[in-house]
Amino acid sequence: MIDQFTIERIQSAAQISDVVSDFVTLRKRGVNYVGLCPFHEDKTPSFYVSPAKNICKCFACGEGGTPVHFVMKHEQLTYYEALKYLAKKYGIEVNEIELTDEQKQAQGDRESMFILNGFAQKMFSSNLFDHLEGKTVGFSYFKERGFREDTIRKFQLGYSLEVRDGFTKQALNSGYKLEFLEKTGLTIVREDNYVADRFRGRVMFPVLSLAGKVVAFGGRTLKKDDKTAKYVNSPESEIYHKGNELYGIYFARQAIVKHDRCFLVEGYTDVISMHQAGIENVVASSGTALTQGQIRLIHRFTNNVTVLYDGDAAGIKAAIRGIDLLLEAGLNIKVVLLPEGEDPDSFAQKQNASHFIEYIKKNETDFVRFKTSLLIEETGNDPIKKARLINEIVDTIAIIPEEIIRSVYVKECSRLLDTDERILVRAIAKKRKELAEQKLKLIKQQSGITEQFQTEQNDASPSGMPGTQPETLLPADTKTSSDTFFDSFEKAILLFVIRYGEHILYTTENPDNKDLIAISVAEYITQDLEQDELVFENPVYRQILAEASGKCKQEGFTSERYFLNHPDPDISRLAADLVSDKYPLSKIHSKFKKMEEESERLVELVPYEVMNYKDAILKKRMENLNLEIKIAQEENDTGKVTQLMTELSLLWQESKKLLAKHLGERIILKL
Ligand code: CTP
Ligand code: MN
Repeated sequence: MIDQFTIERIQSAAQISDVVSDFVTLRKRGVNYVGLCPFHEDKTPSFYVSPAKNICKCFACGEGGTPVHFVMKHEQLTYYEALKYLAKKYGIEVNEIELTDEQKQAQGDRESMFILNGFAQKMFSSNLFDHLEGKTVGFSYFKERGFREDTIRKFQLGYSLEVRDGFTKQALNSGYKLEFLEKTGLTIVREDNYVADRFRGRVMFPVLSLAGKVVAFGGRTLKKDDKTAKYVNSPESEIYHKGNELYGIYFARQAIVKHDRCFLVEGYTDVISMHQAGIENVVASSGTALTQGQIRLIHRFTNNVTVLYDGDAAGIKAAIRGIDLLLEAGLNIKVVLLPEGEDPDSFAQKQNASHFIEYIKKNETDFVRFKTSLLIEETGNDPIKKARLINEIVDTIAIIPEEIIRSVYVKECSRLLDTDERILVRAIAKKRKELAEQKLKLIKQQSGITEQFQTEQNDASPSGMPGTQPETLLPADTKTSSDTFFDSFEKAILLFVIRYGEHILYTTENPDNKDLIAISVAEYITQDLEQDELVFENPVYRQILAEASGKCKQEGFTSERYFLNHPDPDISRLAADLVSDKYPLSKIHSKFKKMEEESERLVELVPYEVMNYKDAILKKRMENLNLEIKIAQEENDTGKVTQLMTELSLLWQESKKLLAKHLGERIILKL
């Protein structure tokens, strides 16, 4: 732990141009510096460094941020490690205080769990390198499997001793609480107070989060008998949600961006061996089917995923189910089958990177084609089986968001399946309609918006309704999923929270005691959204808004500085993105003019963005209603059509009211 005072000293000492130029050759351009971006294959200098703002930013790939940030990313360090790196560079002494019991208590559960996991990782590592049992059993096992020592150290592998509660005792002796030993799952506490280590006599694989913190462990037994489970893993906990983690992501993220591709494998050893062979853009789902959370994680770095399978049929089948989710997310999926009897681990042990990559290039097929030919082999000439196969392929193609890509697959599959293209097209359209209806139901369940408006405006009549001509209706084809749909609107608001959260938007009178109160940007946004019972869909945005409005009245609080230096790298990165556009680094001339304009016009701009967001939510509702109306019309359900049209008209009026309110508010606020 580093105390806050020292953190601030480090942050103010670190000069961005100084820090970056240790890794990138910079040339001066105006008041800024430019260089080749270290985070992607850059041909012309896109990486800008602004000494004035003390941030850097790549205008091609978007990477960048504060000095701490840059070091984290470039050197793949955690926040604290990056701070320590900079402290060393600037000769600032860091007293890493061993925490007192009181401080440990105050840390909060999550932090305590992280610290404990870090301690456990160090213990397991030192067992592996320094303990007789660890050396003879654990280390020699890794050696036998072909892991080099530098690889073992890099992945922080370890060994848990074959003692009932050896680790637990060590941890308790070092001042860690049983509560957190239990919460992290490192210790199993039974009802009769029997206490035991979860991991005993196993080689240990720590699972690192994107930021490099140990969130969990996997332990592999070295016994050959069938009675012992091969892997024991940490249970789900406050810091470990299996579905949101990918094994290896911490070591892979930079390479994923650089190669714009992510290799997906099954297990710990696959990741490690491929890494060792020189292929670093690889992660594992750890034996289970992929989850949405894992896909989102990949999607942040690339659109291209190549799945590597061992040849055995069971493995392929199991994995195929997870892949439909990847397609749905709009990712480009390729599949590579490894030679009979090989998994990525064993294959990588026999190859160097260039041979492996060559094999991949030669053998990769896109997923739909892969699935089709795989299933064809199974069906043979059986017509019933073939019909089922066609349905399955249709289901897969139907979930692909882009129409053009769908049509390419339809052509291809019609050829492969020897089936009329039009039949496929019709079947896909039908399936998409079903999917749209399902989605609609979900949206309806999730948003209480309609009900709310209905009770407010019971007297509305459906006359003079806009936008209900069948021609103007949405095709039965939901264009964007709602989360990406709202993202741009949420971000537009967030931009003001980060840039100007603490700025006073206007002052008003407290109705109770006539005191004047100043309303800041962050407070205005919070209150305005609360009024309509709206919350951002994106949890990170929610957190930022909550923190900003909680802290904006604190003495000396500057939203921009606070979020730029935020300990959560996701947040500080987002802040850097939203702040750097404020000062388009390449167009320095317009800098001051632009800024002045924006900060002076907050009172217009902020309410406008909030209104825009609310309007988007209404429009989305209307779009969905239009879709429902179309379906009802096709089904000749006139009763339903009328009811839906009424609903639509209410939404329309609500939208007009919103605009009127905004115009009125603008006048009031400007006075
Ligand atoms: N796995 C798990 N729990 C299990 C079995 C498997 O978490 N009980 C996960 C692990 O992440 C493992 C992956 O699934 O790495 C793949 O399993 P498997 O192929 O059985 O293990 P390998 O990693 O290939 O291990 P080894 O090569 O040592 O047999
Ligand atoms: Mn294996």
